[in-house]
Amino acid sequence: MRNLEDAFGRQFPYLRLSVTDVCNFSCTYCLPDGYKKSIADIFMGVDEIRRLVAAFAGMGTWKIRLTGGEPTIRPDFIDIARTVSGVSGVRHVAMTTNGYKLPVRAADYYRAGIRAINISIDSLRPAVFSEITGHDRLAEILDGVQTCIETGFEAIKINAVLLKGKNENELDDFISFVEREPVSLRFIELMQTGTNADYFKTYHLSGNVVREKLLARGWQLKPREEGAGPADVYMKQGYNGTIGLIAPYSKGFCKTCNRLRVSARGQLQLCLFGEGGYNLRPLLQDDNQIEELQDKVVSLLRIKKETHRLHEGDTGATQNFSAIGG
Ligand code: 5AD
Ligand code: SF4
Repeated sequence: MRNLEDAFGRQFPYLRLSVTDVCNFSCTYCLPDGYKKSIADIFMGVDEIRRLVAAFAGMGTWKIRLTGGEPTIRPDFIDIARTVSGVSGVRHVAMTTNGYKLPVRAADYYRAGIRAINISIDSLRPAVFSEITGHDRLAEILDGVQTCIETGFEAIKINAVLLKGKNENELDDFISFVEREPVSLRFIELMQTGTNADYFKTYHLSGNVVREKLLARGWQLKPREEGAGPADVYMKQGYNGTIGLIAPYSKGFCKTCNRLRVSARGQLQLCLFGEGGYNLRPLLQDDNQIEELQDKVVSLLRIKKETHRLHEGDTGATQNFSAIGG
């Protein structure tokens, strides 16, 4: 069996698969002016997605995350989820969403085989939430979180991008939230991309600010689980949820990299901040191309770099996360 291992001994059991670049929100750090339709909005179809996932699963990938843009914008999202869940070797299907229409749709996602869901909630204050996302939908999305809990998802993660002077002083509210709710909240350090340099300068806040506050309040670092991603997870007795920190600017962040990404147009991205994508699409057109596709991925993986160069302000080819879902 072909094996997904890079030159630094990292394994890649996890594929983040974007199904669309389109997003209906306009988060200030990502798509401040909203999504602009581009000429070639032709995203992979269900059959292409099935072949891609089968090729990866045949090389040991067992976890798939469906992301976007906003993946649920696709009218065939449920069909995609059901198809991916049915691929032999896939053991865990997750999705990332902005929570749009979540209260009415969560059960459908679960029925389609999705067992883990990440929901972006940057602020628990309606006005701040609305200012960041361009949508006054916090209450609906929080309702959606409750629906997910009731529906029985195995993992519910809430992503909050840390923004200096915006949600910086909400830590206590977020802590109360995880005291009640069995969710893993994760604070994500704002990352610089090709289009948000000024924004980044104004709003970037080091994750250490949160780390120090958590430690001062008696939170403890959870031992890292086998196969875990790059988040440092903190826990505290008496709390139903946990709080994680994703700090891409911290030392050694890339050592635990265990994921590859494919864009909605079928481009393999070896790193979120890499030099661009490698087009897999010509090899997704027929079921009998799977081995050729696997060979191509294995050979591309050999050139995956050891680390990103964000510290030097090199954001690679990533313009924003709408094409690749973070
Ligand atoms: N820095 C950090 N996180 C980002 N996201 C999008 N753009 C950025 C950025 N520049 C986050 C979203 C969402 C996840 C998919 O990625 O808020 O939670
Ligand atoms: Fe891994 Fe670094 Fe790429 Fe993030 S940026 S996915 S840590 S290699």
